[in-house]
Amino acid sequence: MEAPISVLILAAGLGTRMKSKRAKVLHRAGGMSLVEHVVHTAGRVTSPGRVTVVVGHQAAEVEQLLQPLGVHFARQMEQKGTGHAVLIASDSLVDQTGLIVVLYGDCPLLSQSTLEQLIEHQASSSAGATVITTELDDPSGYGRIIFGENNSIREIVEHKAATPQQLGIRFINSGIYCFRADLLRKYIGEIRPNNPAHEFYLTDMVAILTRAGHRVDALNIADSAQLLGINTRAELAAVDRIFRERKVQELMLGGVTIEKPETVTIDACVSIDPDTVVEPFAQILGRSRVGQDCRIGACSIVRDSTLASEVEVAPFTSIADSRIESGARIGPFARLRGGTQVGENAHIGNFVELKNTQFGEGAKANHLAYLGDAEFGKATNIGAGTITRNYNGVKKHRTRVGDDAFVRSNSTLVAPVEIGDGNYIGAESVITEAVPTDALALGRARQVVKEGWAAKRKKKK
Ligand code: UD1
Ligand code: CA
Repeated sequence: MEAPISVLILAAGLGTRMKSKRAKVLHRAGGMSLVEHVVHTAGRVTSPGRVTVVVGHQAAEVEQLLQPLGVHFARQMEQKGTGHAVLIASDSLVDQTGLIVVLYGDCPLLSQSTLEQLIEHQASSSAGATVITTELDDPSGYGRIIFGENNSIREIVEHKAATPQQLGIRFINSGIYCFRADLLRKYIGEIRPNNPAHEFYLTDMVAILTRAGHRVDALNIADSAQLLGINTRAELAAVDRIFRERKVQELMLGGVTIEKPETVTIDACVSIDPDTVVEPFAQILGRSRVGQDCRIGACSIVRDSTLASEVEVAPFTSIADSRIESGARIGPFARLRGGTQVGENAHIGNFVELKNTQFGEGAKANHLAYLGDAEFGKATNIGAGTITRNYNGVKKHRTRVGDDAFVRSNSTLVAPVEIGDGNYIGAESVITEAVPTDALALGRARQVVKEGWAAKRKKKK
């Protein structure tokens, strides 16, 4: 039988070097908080019920974020170090046997295959633990590996405690470990805060296990990038860049054209179908899905939205929480807000804002309009300057316009109001009452001309 695998994720620290009031693990890279990335990776090697996240700083926020993923939590109210965090959590572990993987919440790039390799190595060896190491050009900040015989590790020395000679070592501790559960539980209490920072260092487990006669293996990983830990905002930006690069590579290999890929921002969960073109500086975020043969214009932002196929989003357009059907054209400079649906082959032009609006198949609003809390039927034409007055200062109301209607320029539709199919609304109208099918509605004052009025007024002065 395979040994059960539990995962402990340490995420209680504030992350002083971030200079932030937000807990470090809540900062985002690649469109997700750091700790979410780590939980997702853990979820690939064990079930969520076997994952425990140690929380402390902003514990409630971290728990709320991760609750839906089904993991357990242990609270470390005072952060006395990584060894102390594991001590607190080890009591709450589901299993007393098998293997315990320890991950740090600030190391989000770790790949599934590396994690599997770690578990595989530990499961098939007689070592008490295995530690992932790598060689860095600039190892500053990391714990240094003091090797023993046959690729075993004798000790890990923290940067702050290292001698000048040890600082020259370029093999570092990644902070990713796999322990035999029984040994971790037996010896974790032996860690002492004998260091300048008076912290309980988990890294001391190596020397403790070695002294007790258990070998600790090093598993050296050549691809150092995935082991980068984040301590500063500069490192956060560097890791974010790596996530972005990974995502665009994956999409391009899947048949998406990305122009100047180094300029676009595409979140990890986004899906894009083949033959879609993403122009420079576009951002496609959150849970967005983009079908095939679409074009996402330069500097446009698409967030949590679904675009069917052949949708064209022209430059500088913002789309959020919306659904766009096939063949629709949006922008440039359009804004689609929450709850909007745009029908097949519809056109939304420049400086048009839609909010919580259903815009029918083949309908057009080509310039300068605000359409909020409204429904527009098929092939309806909305003139420039049309406004739905959806808010009376107290409540929001809906506007309904039927199929094939023509709302001419500068009209105001005062909600709640219903306009039937096939109507004409005269330009500059203020429509406050329902308009039946196939009618013309005019809601503006008739023009008055007073001849000579201006000349008389000037004479009076
Ligand atoms: C740690 C390692 C170091 C390694 C590096 C890799 C120790 C003592 N040092 O250093 O050898 O090279 O990671 O990135 O382990 N945390 C808690 N509770 C605490 C303290 C920390 O949950 O009391 C969490 C933090 O939230 C963080 C993680 O543990 O997610 C690592 O802590 P951090 O302070 O960043 O450790 P490093 O100094 O980077
Ligand atoms: Ca760190």
